[in-house]
Formats: sequence, C-alpha cells, structure tokens
Amino acid sequence: MRIQLQWDQSLKIGVAAMDRDHERLVAAMTEIETLNAKKADKPTIGKAIERLGALTVKHFADEERYMGSIAFPDLAMHKLIHQDLLAKFQAHAKAFAAGDGSVSEDFNNFLVCWLRAHIRGIDARYAQHAARTPAKV
Ligand SMILES: [Fe+2]
Ligand SMILES: [Fe+2]
Repeated sequence: MRIQLQWDQSLKIGVAAMDRDHERLVAAMTEIETLNAKKADKPTIGKAIERLGALTVKHFADEERYMGSIAFPDLAMHKLIHQDLLAKFQAHAKAFAAGDGSVSEDFNNFLVCWLRAHIRGIDARYAQHAARTPAKV
C-alpha cells in the first residue's frame, strides 16, 4: 500500500527558513505522486523527480550551513545521514529511469518515510538546540 504525505503542522520544527524548505520538499514529493497517479509520461515524472533531487541537494547544504551557524554539536552525524539519504534517493531515481515510467511503491514509501521521519526525528533535534542557542546569522 502506498503511504500518503501532506504538509501539516506536525512537520513544523520551528525554524522558519527550514520549515519553508520542508514544505517545498513535501510539495515536490506530492507532485511526483500526483503525476504518477495521473499516469503522466515518463519524462514529465522524471523531471519532477529531478526537481525534488535538486531541492534536496540545496536544502541539505542550506541546513548544514544553518546547523553550523548555531554550533549544533551533532552536525557531522547529521551530514552523514544526509549523504545516506541522498545516495538512496539517487538509487531510486536511477531505478525509475531504468523502469517503465511508473513510480514504484518502494520509491514512494521511501520518500514519505524519509520526509516524515527525518524532519520529525532528526531535523527536530537542531531546532531544539536552536531554541536554546540563538543563531549568529
Ligand atoms: Fe536534515
Ligand atoms: Fe531538513
């Protein structure tokens, strides 16, 4: 069964710029699912996947910079988690490119779980740290 994801308040971590990014990531993910459900052609879905990939790369870089600005002690670990997620995302994107043009349930569920678990469980930690330590920038 495919898991659905929509932006809601429970995904807010309380750092405005990062919340905006996360909302965009969720929208880009939802776009992929919508196109897939409409049976859009492969290049169109491929472009939407590329868009999510580009947004993700930029978001991870911005987020890592932000964590540096608040001297977040677990930055190195968080960076490793980002690298791992990106590698998994790229593997799924490659499988899509080699496939029949439909988004696999695996890919969809990976995106949903990644966004939900990473934002609520991992990103929430630097937000808690930020609440105690004001950013320098
Ligand atoms: Fe993150
Ligand atoms: Fe994030």
